[in-house]
Amino acid sequence: MEVIFTSNYEKICEEAARIILREWKKKKNLALGLATGATPLGVYKELIELYQKKEIDFSGVQTFGLDEYLGLEEDHPQSFAHYMKENFLKHINIKKENIFRLDGKPSDIDTNCQEYEDKIKSCGGIDVQILGIGRNGHIGFNEPGSSLSSRTRVKTLAEETVKDNACFFENEREVPRFCLTIGIGTVMEAKMIILLASGGNKKDAVRQCVEGPVTASVPASVLQFHPQAKIIVDEDAGALLSRKGYYEWVFQNKERVKDYLK
Ligand code: PGA
Repeated sequence: MEVIFTSNYEKICEEAARIILREWKKKKNLALGLATGATPLGVYKELIELYQKKEIDFSGVQTFGLDEYLGLEEDHPQSFAHYMKENFLKHINIKKENIFRLDGKPSDIDTNCQEYEDKIKSCGGIDVQILGIGRNGHIGFNEPGSSLSSRTRVKTLAEETVKDNACFFENEREVPRFCLTIGIGTVMEAKMIILLASGGNKKDAVRQCVEGPVTASVPASVLQFHPQAKIIVDEDAGALLSRKGYYEWVFQNKERVKDYLK
């Protein structure tokens, strides 16, 4: 697990976009796992800017949405399909046939989830998965208590998630109670994971994710088992981490590893 401290939200997004650009340079048909929520917005903005400056080209890139509300049409203003289109996908040169997402109105839930898993596999797996973190430690819509080896499936939203997401709807009653989400086991198969956290309301979740015990009660803590998990935080979100000095030391010295082989 690599913890990257930054001074503010903008820097989190710049750092995440820099990593994605670096990975794309290595693999032009990168499979990118996309998260919704407030936190990744700045990353999409950075990637759009890189595209406009012709530093990145999305024509070979494939994207996979992390989750979706159950019962919302693709064009519903609060659907995650709509969010991704408006905030990212319509601004870049990605091919329509390379955009994959969970259908919020599937004719059969289980078949739809299995087909999504199959699609991810047939594309060779997700290369870089972007994640936010819930105040309760959820990743995707894998709420506390989710099996750490779960696959894509239907989930019931936790009450705090309904409350946290109510601001995007007219009122709390409008927030769907069910969703589809790729599982924790599915997330863990991504070759690289970038989890972003900004602001003091995430500091406890970040502490438990990085320095707490691995437990289904804090789904993000499973990332401690991932060989390539990068946790990018600002000062407020990382405020409760006890090894801050060490994480910064590692980050500053990382580039020097190569010098030791000369
Ligand atoms: P947020 O959501 O980025 O809107 O805080 C994160 C999450 O719930 O995963």
